[in-house]
Amino acid sequence: MNHLHTTNQPYRLGLVSALHQEQAGLIALLENARTVTRGMRDYTSGRLWGMECVCVLSRIGKVAAAATAATLIERFGVTHILFTGVAGSVDRRVKVGDIVVADALVQHDMDARPLFPRGEVPLLGQSLFATDRGTTDSAGAAASAFLGDGLADGFAGIPAADREAFRLVQPTVHRGLIASGDAFIHQRETRAALKEAFPALLAVEMEGAAVAQVCFEFGVPFAVVRTISDGADEGAPLDFMQFIDRIAARYAHGLVRRYCASLPAGR
Ligand code: ADE
Repeated sequence: MNHLHTTNQPYRLGLVSALHQEQAGLIALLENARTVTRGMRDYTSGRLWGMECVCVLSRIGKVAAAATAATLIERFGVTHILFTGVAGSVDRRVKVGDIVVADALVQHDMDARPLFPRGEVPLLGQSLFATDRGTTDSAGAAASAFLGDGLADGFAGIPAADREAFRLVQPTVHRGLIASGDAFIHQRETRAALKEAFPALLAVEMEGAAVAQVCFEFGVPFAVVRTISDGADEGAPLDFMQFIDRIAARYAHGLVRRYCASLPAGR
C-alpha cells in the first residue's frame, strides 16, 4: 500500500502516543483544533504542518492501544496511523536515544501453546504484523533527518546537561522487529528470555503490536517509531521516567514535523 494515496480519499493521519510526555506540545500546534471525547480518550483533529491529523493518547497497554486505534479508524476515519513513543532496548547495538522504526511487530505475551505457536494470534494465523512499507519509509526518513539535523542544530534544543546525562552522542536509526506486551520489562532475565524467543528483536514496548493487529484487520496502513528510553533492565524504571520527562517530546516533535513536511501538498 502506498501512503501517498492515488485515490480521492483524503489523507488523514492518526497520531498516537501512549503518554502525554511522548506527545507533549503537538496538540497545541494543531490548527483549527477540535476535540471530541470518546471512550475516555480525547481525539483532537486539526492541521499539523499542513497535514490533516487526529492526535490522541492511548494510555498504556495493548487493550488501551487497540481500543484507541479502532476508534481512530471507525469513528474518526483516519487513513493512516503513526505511533510514536519510547521503548526499551533488547539488543546491545540499540542505545538510549536511538530510534527504532518497526518493520514488523509481535505480541510477545500472546501465548496459546500448545494450541498455537507462541506469538501467533489465534484464528488470525499471524504472529508478525508487518508495518506499511511507504509509511514506514517516510517515518524512517523523518527519523534519520531528525537525528541528522538535530546533531547539526544543537540537538533539537536538548540542553547539553541532558545530552550528557543520557549519553546522546551520535544516536542512530534502526529498522526491525519490535515486541509489545502488557509488562514493563525491567529484569535482565526477562529481557534475555525475550531476545531468545525472538532473536531478531530490537526493542520492547506495550502498545505497537496491538495497533498493528487492529490496522491489519481494518486494512489501514501504519508505522511505529520508538525512541529508546532504557535498556529493559534493572535501571529501566528510573531511566524511563527521566527520559519521558526530559527528552521524549522533543523527539516526537522533530520526527512528526519532518514526517508531515515530507509528504506532498494537497494530499
Ligand atoms: N517502554 C519503554 N521502556 C519499556 C520497557 N522497559 N518495557 C516495556 N515498555 C517500555
